[in-house]
Amino acid sequence: QPIPVITIDGPSGVGKGTTCALVAEQLGWHLLDSGSIYRALALKVMKASIDTKDEALLIETAKSLQLSFTVADDGTTQIKLDGEVVNEQLRSEACGDMASKIAPIPAIRQALFIRQKAFQRHPGLVADGRDMGTVVFKSAPLKVFLTANAEERAKRRHKQLKLKGVDVKIRALLEDIEARDFRDSTRKVAPLVPAADAHVIDTSDLSIKQVLAQIMNLVEQNV
Ligand code: C5P
Repeated sequence: QPIPVITIDGPSGVGKGTTCALVAEQLGWHLLDSGSIYRALALKVMKASIDTKDEALLIETAKSLQLSFTVADDGTTQIKLDGEVVNEQLRSEACGDMASKIAPIPAIRQALFIRQKAFQRHPGLVADGRDMGTVVFKSAPLKVFLTANAEERAKRRHKQLKLKGVDVKIRALLEDIEARDFRDSTRKVAPLVPAADAHVIDTSDLSIKQVLAQIMNLVEQNV
C-alpha cells in the first residue's frame, strides 16, 4: 500500500510552514519542510566560505551534508548540521537568500532529492516546498498550491519577524520576496509553478484557519 503524500507548494511568505505543520498535526502525519534542507546546505556554504561559483564543491557539499532531523515528543523538529542544532540559524534571511541562489543548480537538486524522499513514511507525509508536487512527489494523491500577493506576504513576514524581535522595513522584505519569487519561478529546473493537477488556493484574504479548513476539505475528498 503506497504511503500517501499531500504536497503543499508556493512562494516564500505565503504561510506554507504554519499551514503544513497544522495539517500534519491534524492528520498525525510526518512533515517535510524541504526548504530547511536547502537552507541547511546554504548555511554550510556560508560557514565554510564556499565560493558559490565552485559548482563541483557545492555539489560535493550537498552530497556529503551531515544533516539530521529529530522529532521531539512535543512535535517540534530539531535540525542538526554537523552535529550542531541550527533551527534558529536556518531561519535567517541570509540563509533563505543563499538557498535560492544555489537551488537552481540541477545536480544540487538531484543530490537533495533522495533526502526528501526519505521522509515518506507511514502513515503519511505532508511535504512543504516549491517542487513537491511537480518533481519530488509527482504521484501524490493531493497537491495544493498556495499563493498570496507579494504585499500581503511581506506584511506576514514582517509580523512574524516582529514577534521575534527583529525589526525590518516592510519595503525591504517586499523587495527580497520579489527577488526570490523571480529567481524561484524563472529557473530552468523545477521552477515554482503549480502542478497541472494542483488545487490553487489564493490566501491573500484568508486566515490560516480558513486555509486549513479548505485543505482538510480537500483531504477528505482526495486522500
Ligand atoms: O521555503 P524556504 O523559504 O525555506 O526555501 C528557501 C529557498 O530554498 C527557496 O527560496 C528556494 O529557492 C529553495 N527551495 C527550493 N525547492 C524546495 C524548497 C526550497 O528550491 N522544495
